[in-house]
Amino acid sequence: MDFLRILGQQKLDGTIKISGAKNASLPLIAMSILAKNRITMKNVPHVADIKTLLKLLGNLGATYSFEDETIQIDASSIEKTTATYDIVKTMRASILVLGPLLARFGHCEVSLPGGCAIGQRPIDLHLKALELMGATIEIKAGYVKASAPQGLKGAHIIFDKITVTGTANVVMAAALAKGETQIVNAAKEPEVVQLCEVLQKSGVEIEGIGTAMLRIKGNGGELLHIDPFTIIPDRIEAGTYLCAGAITNSRLSISFADASHLESVIAKLEEMGCCFEITQYTITIVPTENLRPVRIVTQEYPGFPTDMQAQFVALATQANGVSVIEEKLFENRFMHVSELQRMGASITLNGNVATVTGKTKLSGADVMATDLRASSALVLAGLVAEGKTDVHRIYHLDRGYDNLEGKLQSVGAKIERLKE
Ligand code: UD1
Repeated sequence: MDFLRILGQQKLDGTIKISGAKNASLPLIAMSILAKNRITMKNVPHVADIKTLLKLLGNLGATYSFEDETIQIDASSIEKTTATYDIVKTMRASILVLGPLLARFGHCEVSLPGGCAIGQRPIDLHLKALELMGATIEIKAGYVKASAPQGLKGAHIIFDKITVTGTANVVMAAALAKGETQIVNAAKEPEVVQLCEVLQKSGVEIEGIGTAMLRIKGNGGELLHIDPFTIIPDRIEAGTYLCAGAITNSRLSISFADASHLESVIAKLEEMGCCFEITQYTITIVPTENLRPVRIVTQEYPGFPTDMQAQFVALATQANGVSVIEEKLFENRFMHVSELQRMGASITLNGNVATVTGKTKLSGADVMATDLRASSALVLAGLVAEGKTDVHRIYHLDRGYDNLEGKLQSVGAKIERLKE
């Protein structure tokens, strides 16, 4: 197993190129199930989650290639409709194939993803919505067995909670359904927006893109012709590197990021005293030695992303004063806290609220990654800690960060990948 060794307290300097967004790529790869042609997507990050979903599509019968940052997928050859446990258990986002498989074939079986490190993460809202669209759903032997022999029909769906992959699943199913589907309380994340825009360019009528109310006119089951497209930049990767600049008190630039997707993250860094220079091509963080404490509540987009919560807990250890960070989306997303405490952080946890008292001198230690974003928080802490930090179990990190150590090395960090 690989681990990362970081020698802390190095200043960073230079520009990091941001990769395409993992969470935009995943639904768009699942969307290929709706296509009649071989589709091309550019700017796809080389991360494990993408390879996992490609493998799942390969098991179903699709052919694909992934070279440089370009994926080509031909899903017209899919014959199987069962997404098996061995793949789904490694990545919950595999549930994204449910809507498109059901819409195209009228039946499918997708293993239930089960719990995950950051909480229970149910899929009840996905299932309820597909039932409203005419599907019959049964849970049997750990599988969701869905069928709609007459095809799916448009429905009026009100999500009780905003769900990102739930919205994506319903949008994809609705594209091939008969009639209009309305989604009330839809997710507004840029990754959902890109999925809708790609479908719209392929002839699907969608109104309200980027709002909480989507209207999708289904085409009655005809497969789509999808032109090549380029994946949007990864806003969470971008936010993580901005935090790397802030925590090491370094002037650091990121390129190929979209500042408009990062407003809530940049606003919090500004509240903490950092300044920004933003051009069309780069975002440069101008840090401050005197980081101020911050209050954060995670929310759905355009609120502060839960996927940046762990990184800001690490950053708050270097702010002068008491920061309060509340996690509203997932019930168990503070596992980085005990690892940060082992490095000397002063953090108390009360339910879903972390209170971080700074500034503390962190010292390098052996720490264990527990989930994807928790892993990056440990890397950030390692960058500012005194001495050597070994971050173990980085397969979590590899799920979502493309060449993290290479990118950090290129701006002067002392970080290397080693074998246990
Ligand atoms: C997506 C992102 C993930 C991010 C999360 C929240 C992808 C591949 N993953 O995950 O990185 O952290 O959004 O921004 O895009 N819920 C239910 N029932 C459901 C579905 C969700 O109760 O059927 C709840 C969840 O438990 C959670 C909340 O709704 O409390 C939001 O979850 P959701 O938006 O669905 O997260 P994901 O789409 O899995």
